[in-house]
Amino acid sequence: MALKEIITIPDPVLRENCSPIEDITPELKMLMQDMLETMYDAPGVGLAAPQINIPIRLIVMDAAQKEDDEKEPIIMINPKILSSSDDLSVYEEGCLSIPEYFAEVERPAIVKVGYRDEEGKEQERECEGLLGTVVQHEIDHLDGVLFIDYLSKLRRDRVIKKFAKAKKSIAI
Ligand code: NI
Repeated sequence: MALKEIITIPDPVLRENCSPIEDITPELKMLMQDMLETMYDAPGVGLAAPQINIPIRLIVMDAAQKEDDEKEPIIMINPKILSSSDDLSVYEEGCLSIPEYFAEVERPAIVKVGYRDEEGKEQERECEGLLGTVVQHEIDHLDGVLFIDYLSKLRRDRVIKKFAKAKKSIAI
């Protein structure tokens, strides 16, 4: 297993519409493990393949909030939201691709997600609580959508400008 580099805004790969996955190859399985390792190392509760510069529809998550170190990894291939609750919930979100920036985002509280698991089997899962928010945040990544897109234009522009400036100063 290997840690992957996480890309940050304004990298254009984060704005791509990612391609569906056709076959579950040994390389893809290795990539899933690398993504989990990278997510735990960050640390984060979710990671989408475009965040490691690979624009395909693959996400990994672990939203279990437990005292002990037991892990509950979830891998979803080609995930799709099948239905959303009318009830909304608000979480303060962050993103490994937008380091050290957090803001409250309102999303449906419960979503039903269809996906293929790591063996390629079709699955459905109802996601609520933190997992409900995380899965929507990660699926957004596959469509090139970032959580800052839910903020006012003023706030979003301010964040984007800050990161564009930071990149420039590193390049000099
Ligand atoms: Ni993110």
